[in-house]
Amino acid sequence: MRVLLINGPNLNLLGARKPEIYGTMTLAELEDRCRAWAGDLGIELLCFQSNHEGAIIDRLHAAMGNTGGVVINPGAYTHSSYALHDAIEAIELPAIEVHLSDIMSREAWRRVSVVAPACHASISGKGAEGYREALELLAALGG
Ligand code: DQA
Repeated sequence: MRVLLINGPNLNLLGARKPEIYGTMTLAELEDRCRAWAGDLGIELLCFQSNHEGAIIDRLHAAMGNTGGVVINPGAYTHSSYALHDAIEAIELPAIEVHLSDIMSREAWRRVSVVAPACHASISGKGAEGYREALELLAALGG
């Protein structure tokens, strides 16, 4: 099974950006960890990060027909991008939304995820462990 991991805007700065909220792990370290977890689950993990909405949408489209599921941390696009919602819905792959921080306990504007209705599940506030849970969920779905 192949899974696409997408990290959205500003997540390339992980490790340096607000470590008290997002932790000290860099994006490369997070992706390495996810690849290892995926390997244990028999998943081939493809990692992608972009700060650009259209590039994320293009990558989602490219996953159609060759990928079993998606793990996505859309960054701040979570709270605003109906285009991302529609892309996730359009590709008809199980997608798990992940957030390192607990978006429900932060600013009011972060409590709304416009992509959540297009996702199979949403995991928030568990740090890197949330990505592991997302991979486990996709492995259980077997998609
Ligand atoms: C985030 C939460 C978002 O509100 C924020 O804009 C991010 C990261 C998280 O992983 O906690 O960039 O998705």
